[in-house]
Amino acid sequence: MFDTDPAARPQPKPGILEIAPYVPGKATAEGVEHPVKLSANENILGCSPAARDAFTATVDRLAHYPDGRASNLRAALAEHYRLEPERLILGCGTDEVFALLNQTFLEPGDNIVQGEFGFGAYAIGARANQAVVRYAKEKDHRIDVDAMLAEIDARTRLVFIANPANPTGTFITAAEVARLHDGLPASVILVLDGAYAEFNTDPTFSDGMDVARGADNIVVTHTFSKLHGLAALRIGWAYAPEAVAEAVNRIRLPFNTSIAGQAAAVAALADTRFQAESLAHVERWRPWLAQQIGGLGLALTPSAANFVLVGFPSTPGRTAAEAELFLARRGLIVRGVGNYGLPDHLRITIGLEKHNRAVVDALGQFLSHADPA
Ligand SMILES: Cc1ncc(COP(=O)(O)O)c(C=O)c1O
Repeated sequence: MFDTDPAARPQPKPGILEIAPYVPGKATAEGVEHPVKLSANENILGCSPAARDAFTATVDRLAHYPDGRASNLRAALAEHYRLEPERLILGCGTDEVFALLNQTFLEPGDNIVQGEFGFGAYAIGARANQAVVRYAKEKDHRIDVDAMLAEIDARTRLVFIANPANPTGTFITAAEVARLHDGLPASVILVLDGAYAEFNTDPTFSDGMDVARGADNIVVTHTFSKLHGLAALRIGWAYAPEAVAEAVNRIRLPFNTSIAGQAAAVAALADTRFQAESLAHVERWRPWLAQQIGGLGLALTPSAANFVLVGFPSTPGRTAAEAELFLARRGLIVRGVGNYGLPDHLRITIGLEKHNRAVVDALGQFLSHADPA
């Protein structure tokens, strides 16, 4: 006999049911057969042909378990970035690396600190470990180092910064990162999420790898999902202090990166031509989009990533939510970011030239219509 008393059923740990699930970028638009997905900051150029070939070449190995240490990829990363292989953590996307860091370091009642508009994955993992998420106010959609430091207390274990950030696209300079790190107790880990770092060529910027080399409490993460265009294969990695990597590697799933993912990532890393093309594309169209969208009278947050954040008025008929719908009807799927506390904004991934022009044309039409819908 089953017990029908709800209180007697299996109960998730406290706090789990209060976690708002991660909302991925939409991939479909009602009534549009082949919409353009500009909602997930994927690489609009696809991926390296060499990575594709490497992926395809693994087809005969489907019956095999992957190398749990991802030795080839580990060695390739170590060589490419001149890093110690034992300090690397490989993950099923960097999302898994964040989850592992949270799982390894957080006890109930501990806290993590992140920016007001910080990437959602950090908080989910922290809450799953019954930790508290402390949000530091940002200035002009940009991390404020003093506000971050003011949130640190005796229970802080991890500080997360995406640099450049998602969904704002802004970054803080190497000097600001150093000041933040200098202000942290030695027991607090600073996680520098470099998912978009490769798109930022500003001379004042660094992904933090240089300071991480000599620090006991900095973790720098990178992903193959953005510049390398391998989001489907879920390969992320971190450069961590050896003791952190050693602890995290104890609890990660033994086969968390696939044979196909490892092989494609090794090939992608070597394809500097594709990387350069991807960066050049973003550098060509990011200022163009900013100028055109700004020219329409919409608010543009300066971006150092492969997307732009656009602010809309709250006037009925002109809102971000209505613009999102208007664009979707024209086959352009962009990202509403109300769940990040930015209900008046849309995040738009930089597309191919035709997509970017279509976005600007559609936004122009949207703003010029008396009743845009
Ligand atoms: C700031 C940031 N960090 C990490 C990720 C996740 O990357 P991955 O695909 O490696 O899990 C994303 C993905 O959108 C992101 O925006």
